[in-house]
Amino acid sequence: MSVSVQPSTELAGKRILLGVTGGIAAYKCAELVRLLKKAGADVVVGMTDAATRFVTPLTFQALSGHPVAVDAWNPDQGNGMHHIDLTRTTDLMVVAPASADFLAKMAQGRADDLLSTLVLARDCPLAVAPAMNRQMWSNPATQRNVTQLRGDGVAIWGPAVGEQACGETGEGRMLESCELLELIVAALTPKVLAGQRIVMTVGPTFEPLDPVRGITNRSSGQMGYAMARAFAQAGAEVTLVSGPVNFATPMGVRRMDVLTAAEMRQAVMAEIANATVFVGVAAVADYRPLEVSEHKLKKTDSEAAQQSRTLELTTNPDILAEVASLPAAPYCVGFAAESQNLDEYAEAKRLRKRLPLIIGNLVADGLGTTENRVTLYDDAGSHPLPILHKVDLAKRLVDELARRLDAAS
Ligand code: C5P
Repeated sequence: MSVSVQPSTELAGKRILLGVTGGIAAYKCAELVRLLKKAGADVVVGMTDAATRFVTPLTFQALSGHPVAVDAWNPDQGNGMHHIDLTRTTDLMVVAPASADFLAKMAQGRADDLLSTLVLARDCPLAVAPAMNRQMWSNPATQRNVTQLRGDGVAIWGPAVGEQACGETGEGRMLESCELLELIVAALTPKVLAGQRIVMTVGPTFEPLDPVRGITNRSSGQMGYAMARAFAQAGAEVTLVSGPVNFATPMGVRRMDVLTAAEMRQAVMAEIANATVFVGVAAVADYRPLEVSEHKLKKTDSEAAQQSRTLELTTNPDILAEVASLPAAPYCVGFAAESQNLDEYAEAKRLRKRLPLIIGNLVADGLGTTENRVTLYDDAGSHPLPILHKVDLAKRLVDELARRLDAAS
């Protein structure tokens, strides 16, 4: 069955107040507004006067769909309490880029323009993404202000080290818009997995036949990476043991790259003693070639090979079953991708591997697609979930897991 691809709306229902101050990095925030809107957030932008010299308010108005708050003295603004009204409906305020001057202003609690007034009048959490020349950043005055803001409960995001617009290289670059998006999503995610240490396997394995060829499968790793991201955003410490895939490591996740099932097993066993949860999302090859040729196999290697060739295989270790049978096993979650008889096969697998929870899907519903439809199987029976974008499904699975961990503790 083919399913339509809907973008994830993981920030639906959230309102972000983005404060833009005077720095060249302001241009990156145009992209940030677009990303936030795409994720379903309602975005209202406030700018300092200096910021409007770098990017016009019209740009942010067009991207956000709201008038931009710049002027504290605008008589057209409702009852004149615009600064209060704006922040009361906001889930998170982000100042990006935050200039050295604006950091100083916030640290002192000054309110001499609309944006600094919004910062002071807000009743929502505040995060800032500093952006400035490396000397300005390392100046003791700026560092003092940053320490003060941290102490006041403000989240400081970045800055990154790298090439700067002024031509110098050092610490002071604003984080990229996609990194800010990740931090915003994490800041708005309840920490229902705080204190959990999760080891996961994801992606396919690759079992070499010779230096060029091997046996693998069509697992893209998308579901596993979406889950690792969601687990980390929910406050878990995540170690990802990853087969060969094409995904960037989610923010805050520790990643170990492996190729074969044997390497995957070894990496998992080295990490598992400390884990509270193990999630086997990887499509681990059940078999590997009995012999791996040191050199590329040639067509002419044998007479018979010209007609047909027999490949002798041997079984791979079952990582999930081995972890589940450890004396002090963590809470183990398995996956079952089946092409038919899902209920029967998934439940049989759960019982055979002795898992409290297995997540099953029909391959036609999930393999290599952006959306997935899964059913959860546990001691209480089967629990089908609706078709969801893998990003949204990962969030739903976080809640399902957190609920079961609470019940099991
Ligand atoms: O036995 P089967 O491969 O169908 O089971 C799938 C589940 O077991 C998945 O969670 C997968 O990650 C895990 N598994 C494993 N090691 C294997 C085979 C599967 O950890 N060798």
